[in-house]
Amino acid sequence: MRSITRLCAVAAVSTTIFAQTHTGTLFNFVPGLGACGFTNSSDQTVASVSSQVFNSFPGAGPNPNNNPICTHSVTISSNGTNLTAPIVDFCTQCDQFSVGLSPSAFEQFAPLPNGIVPNVTWEIV
Ligand SMILES: *[C@@H]1O[C@H](CO)[C@@H](O)[C@H](O)[C@H]1NC(C)=O
Ligand SMILES: *[C@@H]1O[C@H](CO)[C@@H](O)[C@H](O)[C@H]1NC(C)=O
Ligand SMILES: *[C@@H]1O[C@H](CO)[C@@H](O)[C@H](O)[C@H]1NC(C)=O
Ligand SMILES: *[C@@H]1O[C@H](CO)[C@@H](O)[C@H](O)[C@H]1NC(C)=O
Repeated sequence: MRSITRLCAVAAVSTTIFAQTHTGTLFNFVPGLGACGFTNSSDQTVASVSSQVFNSFPGAGPNPNNNPICTHSVTISSNGTNLTAPIVDFCTQCDQFSVGLSPSAFEQFAPLPNGIVPNVTWEIV
């Protein structure tokens, strides 16, 4: 918990995003070359957050590849399923508290054709 204290000192305004549980819509996305600079595929377990969350993460700067959020994961929970996936990208067309998963990971929560899962809880870890 020492690191959280330090982050608070650096960017107090952003700490609501970190180490807090949020509720939002889970969507699925096809990974590729993401904002973090990694190239991932649909069979890998990777996550995406909104651009608001990505860009307000403590330490975020002009180069998204260097965003400290890229060293973090998101734990998503819904109806008894818990899954943790590394954050590799952000989405521009989603609500602030939406969270995305690659297809193989999304399928842990719902069939892909469902498209979304409403009201999942998530936390950056
Ligand atoms: C995502 O891609 C990077 C390479 O660009 C790789 O190092 C990393 O392990 C991949 N993540 C997962 C969860 O497979
Ligand atoms: C939650 O999980 C239970 C048991 O697996 C299942 O019967 C139920 O349909 C699920 N509810 C929703 C909203 O997915
Ligand atoms: C799932 O994750 C949430 C949030 O991190 C946590 O509060 C909860 O205890 C976890 N549930 C299980 C069954 O691991
Ligand atoms: C999701 O949460 C909102 C607000 O709490 C609620 O109005 C809505 O009925 C919920 N949807 C589902 C599918 O649980």
